[in-house]
Amino acid sequence: AMNYSLLAGGKRLRPLLMLETYRLLGGKGKEIEPFMAAIEMIHTYSLVHDDLPAMDNDTYRRGRKTTWSVYGEGMGILAGDALLNYAFETALEAAFPAQEGTSEPGKLRAVMRALQIMARKSGIYGMIGGQTADLEAEGCSEPLSQERLLFIHEHKTAALIQAAMMAGAILAEASKEQIEAVEKCACNIGIAFQIQDDILDVVGDSRELGKMVGSDAMNKKQTYVTARGLEKAREDVERLSSEALYILQELPGDRGFLEDLIRDLIHRRK
Ligand code: IPE
Ligand code: IPE
Ligand code: MG
Ligand code: MG
Ligand code: MG
Repeated sequence: AMNYSLLAGGKRLRPLLMLETYRLLGGKGKEIEPFMAAIEMIHTYSLVHDDLPAMDNDTYRRGRKTTWSVYGEGMGILAGDALLNYAFETALEAAFPAQEGTSEPGKLRAVMRALQIMARKSGIYGMIGGQTADLEAEGCSEPLSQERLLFIHEHKTAALIQAAMMAGAILAEASKEQIEAVEKCACNIGIAFQIQDDILDVVGDSRELGKMVGSDAMNKKQTYVTARGLEKAREDVERLSSEALYILQELPGDRGFLEDLIRDLIHRRK
């Protein structure tokens, strides 16, 4: 069940952002690899649980039936739990590399700091906190304030994008200022990404997306589109992406790939 969801594909956006941030800030080692696998496992677990009947009750994801609808709810819960745990087992391998002997103290410290960020941004102050606020807001009779909606989007989605990019920066042993710039940049990318996800839930193509459209309406979920309308939502995706591009300029090196990626995400159809 773990492999079923993980190997179904998906865009692999978070490992990609992690690797490219690492490279941008001068990272050249192998320790990034277990972290790339780990962030994708955490993200995939969040999707497996997000699809459960008790949450969004979805039956289609990454072009296949959802994990719970194939293996049952119990196995869906356990596969998610297992992916989360296995993520940290895997990332910790970077601290004790099999071939290269013991890590030098600077590298070991970076690995520990990166693990701390991954744990925090996926936990109650990050993704789980956001999913909690999302669930609490479901079926809420009053319109959600802009502030509350942004809290949900920042936490349920931007936090894991921040974890990805910040871990990349930390492992590359970037400066404190650079890591802060990465955190802000990733926040904008992540909120824009979730607004676009809300847009695609209304106007997307289910075959192309690999997941059902109309899931939010079915769950009576207030989204960025219901709150602000399609046009304003589209505008905000562009504005937030421009802000991300602006912040990225604070970082040294060849930013071409990341800049193109951020621009491509504005018009993504899946
Ligand atoms: C879906 O994430 C859930 C959100 C945070 C919007 P992705 O759109 O990155 O899903 P995959 O990994 O490509 O399947
Ligand atoms: C989910 O947001 C974000 C997660 C942390 C999983 P959605 O519920 O909108 O994601 P999709 O549309 O099911 O992929
Ligand atoms: Mg959800
Ligand atoms: Mg969902
Ligand atoms: Mg969605």
